[in-house]
Amino acid sequence: MSALGSLLTSAPILVADGSGGGFWMPPQASDFAVGVDGLFDFILYCSIFFFVLLMGLTVYFAVKYKKKDDNQRTSPIHHSFKLEFLWSAIPTVLMVIVFAWGFRDFTALSQTPPDALDVRILGQKWSWTIQYPTLNKECANKLVLPVDRPFTTTMSSSDVIHSFWIPAMRAKRDVLPSRYTGFTVTPTRVGTYPFFCTEFCGQQHSNMGGTVQVLSQDDFAKWVASKDCPGLDPESPDYGPRLFKKFCASCHTDTKDGGRLVGPTLWGKHNTMEKIVGGPDALIDDNYIRESILYPEKQIVVGYEGENMPAFRGRLDDLQLNAIVDYIKTLKD
Ligand code: CUA
Repeated sequence: MSALGSLLTSAPILVADGSGGGFWMPPQASDFAVGVDGLFDFILYCSIFFFVLLMGLTVYFAVKYKKKDDNQRTSPIHHSFKLEFLWSAIPTVLMVIVFAWGFRDFTALSQTPPDALDVRILGQKWSWTIQYPTLNKECANKLVLPVDRPFTTTMSSSDVIHSFWIPAMRAKRDVLPSRYTGFTVTPTRVGTYPFFCTEFCGQQHSNMGGTVQVLSQDDFAKWVASKDCPGLDPESPDYGPRLFKKFCASCHTDTKDGGRLVGPTLWGKHNTMEKIVGGPDALIDDNYIRESILYPEKQIVVGYEGENMPAFRGRLDDLQLNAIVDYIKTLKD
């Protein structure tokens, strides 16, 4: 294999491997991807055609009509109606084609058939929670889908603007704190694909992603029946750990050697003293933990100035708060 060939293979996004993605695109994993790639190719090939035509003519005319000597006079130039009509009409027709093609596919993103699988996607600094209201399941940073069945997303954010993007499905839409957004597509190819946040949303923005697993219909039914991604149950003993994973784990570890992510590991913190910026030392007791979750700007431990922990007041109810505080208290030898 040539050096270029091996370079391309090491960058999977560029490989033409029969998955339909072609040279520029990742595999086509949805019905929507086919239309997007077709439009992309149309615009690309039109651009290449006209670039070559125009640059070629420019060079040709520059050589052909080069002034030969000082006595050479330009012959009188008249405008050409035919030429002017064509250079207006051809681009207009191309633009209308691009608009109609794009508009048709764009509106298809908002058409939801009644049998579509309903998926709720919650963005927060800096993780995704995927909920299946009809299946009593909830996953962190993982979207599991059956192949050949449309799914529709209802997306919202609990803090800033995020954007949910599945490159292999060519589907992307902003995730807003103020209202629901969403899209509907049909996965057409079994496989595992990445998804990303594509709206700069703070320190951990580049880590705010996950995977989409598209399963065969049989495998999806097995997954639904499995214990993977159970719905959050306040009665269950892992309620606290799962809330921790959902709300805290993108910035705090919960293990002894977890070290610092954005904030410190919370292992062994309960009942210790910490130095506080601009105030007396504080005991890390239940009230300190509770206050730090709800009003993180109030008592900041020295060394963590400027980390801007998101505040959770209004986002956690007392039951959730208690479960998280209880879990943090258990993090010790
Ligand atoms: Cu969320 Cu970037």
